[in-house]
Amino acid sequence: MRTFLPLAAATLLAVSLGLPALAQTPAATLTIEADKPLHAVSPTLYGMMTEEINYSYDGGLYAEMVRNRSFTDRNWEGIGHWTLDPTGTAKATAKYDGETGPTEALPGSMVLDVTQADAKHPAAVRNDGWWGMRVLPNTTYTGSLYARSENGGSMTVSLVNDGSGKVAASTALATLSPEWKQYTFTLRTGAVPASTDNHLLLSVPQMGKVWLQLVSLFPPTYKNRANGNRPDLMQLLAGMHPKFLRLPGGNYLEGDQIDERFDWKNTIGPLADRPTHRSPWNYQSTDGLGLLEFLEWTEDLNIEPVLAVYAGYSLKGDHINAGPALTPFVDDAMDELEFVTGGPETKWGAVRAKLGHPAPFPLHYVEVGNEDEFDHALTYEGRFAQFHKAIKAKYPSLQVIATTPLKRTVPDVVDDHYYKRAEDFFSLLHKYDNMPRTGPKIFVGEWATREGSPTTNLGAALGDAAFMTSLERNGDLIVMASYAPLLVNVNPGGMQWESDLIGYDAASSYGSPSYYAQALFAEYLGTEVTTATLSGASDRVFTSVTRDPAKGALYVKLVNASTEPQEVDVTIAGSHVRSGATLWSLHGATRAETNTITDPKRIVPVKSSLKVSDTFRHTVPPLSVEVMVLGAKP
Ligand code: AHR
Repeated sequence: MRTFLPLAAATLLAVSLGLPALAQTPAATLTIEADKPLHAVSPTLYGMMTEEINYSYDGGLYAEMVRNRSFTDRNWEGIGHWTLDPTGTAKATAKYDGETGPTEALPGSMVLDVTQADAKHPAAVRNDGWWGMRVLPNTTYTGSLYARSENGGSMTVSLVNDGSGKVAASTALATLSPEWKQYTFTLRTGAVPASTDNHLLLSVPQMGKVWLQLVSLFPPTYKNRANGNRPDLMQLLAGMHPKFLRLPGGNYLEGDQIDERFDWKNTIGPLADRPTHRSPWNYQSTDGLGLLEFLEWTEDLNIEPVLAVYAGYSLKGDHINAGPALTPFVDDAMDELEFVTGGPETKWGAVRAKLGHPAPFPLHYVEVGNEDEFDHALTYEGRFAQFHKAIKAKYPSLQVIATTPLKRTVPDVVDDHYYKRAEDFFSLLHKYDNMPRTGPKIFVGEWATREGSPTTNLGAALGDAAFMTSLERNGDLIVMASYAPLLVNVNPGGMQWESDLIGYDAASSYGSPSYYAQALFAEYLGTEVTTATLSGASDRVFTSVTRDPAKGALYVKLVNASTEPQEVDVTIAGSHVRSGATLWSLHGATRAETNTITDPKRIVPVKSSLKVSDTFRHTVPPLSVEVMVLGAKP
């Protein structure tokens, strides 16, 4: 628990310790006219943006424990993350065969060719998981695999501790069939120690060939969804108080090449029918977290999807010109919209219903493409117009987002992206104040203060909070904003993009200081911006004041990004302020101070009570983000 000394006391203390007195910045004034709302704040202002980057889903949110479950990652040594593990005299080889898989989508398999084995000395292959496998005591793990066997026989599946060799849980599958068959199993641990130093072992006690594909193991998931998400990460996401999820990305939507785009039809249905695809962040996506799983993620957090549709441009410059060649891509997007929003009587709504979700999902925004300003062939005007026309013809009330300003078609919303250092954000904070309100609305679909790695530090959180004061002040123009990237696996090799919001390994997860700034700003957001004037403050002090008349609440946010304390004389006019208020404070000693996987709660919001009246003095400590939650009735 941190405590803050009032400035005068701190100065006295410094003098008595023989230290130089703290520099006295003159008191600023914050005059709030609580009865003079300026405009409404978008109720969907804060949300999340997601894509497969930094092992966000595979090795992250998507709870699958087996790495390279369908053997798509192969190298000179063999099949990535799978290793032969014979007992005693057993002998076998494990190779990938591209012709012998169980489905069209997964045409290959691992062939385990056992030339010597018996019950005491089985041949085996092990999987090392996503930088380990987290095993907990008294827990049930749910698994499945596809197999066929030349000589029938059996297979045992076990979770084994790397360090001790002790088996945490084990089960024998039914007799293996000569035809491809899916085998499901559960592994129940007893009183084993919790650890991530474990592997999955598939043991075969008979000679002959066994073919394997799609080897999968899940721990308990958030809301117990089959094929679901890690509970700890979902809880962190819920703690952001988001209102929407922009899916699926980002560069991930586009792919490096057209055939590496997020081809949504390949991401639905049984896992064995999903071919997997390469993410532009240089690894294969299992697509286990596919379109329906994205939508269920929004449902589990009670938020709305903001659906991004592939718009005929990929990152390395390949594109489809507007016209007949683009029509199949527009049709695909229209099918996608029907899959998301159509009733079970529609063609694609029926597909969704068959997959277990008859109810349509709510959808108000669709985004056409991603960062199309990088299309140097300048084809976006034409491509956007073709998508826009088709979407508006069928869904007139759907808000269509363009990824860059346009000259010919007027989109409902334009998506702006910002990746900056804190000091650069400070000079951007008035950009939207003077923007005309006659054009499209703004979606800040990606933004972050990029300081700190793998997750951001306090300096970044200060830049973020300062930027968010400008988002709130312009909450009539800015309909949504989402930080990016959201997730990073902090293991070596897990990160492709520095300065992320939430970090994790196989065992645990944590929020960066930026995460906590976001969470505070989103939780305490009023419905209206109130007239508020800050004068005489340091140019690194920022504020946003919103009110929620239905709750009788006034939220005063103060960000002090300077290294000096800032005294503020607050005057609240037009409202009777109740004396008791809550103060949330996020603070650290230096801009470099941060949270890490081993020190996850170093910088977290601290709650205290605050005595307030219609006028009061408050000192905002250096390097801090503060939110005052005041009860105020007209
Ligand atoms: O957030 C990381 C990347 O930054 C996104 O994939 C892309 O849209 C942007 O350039």
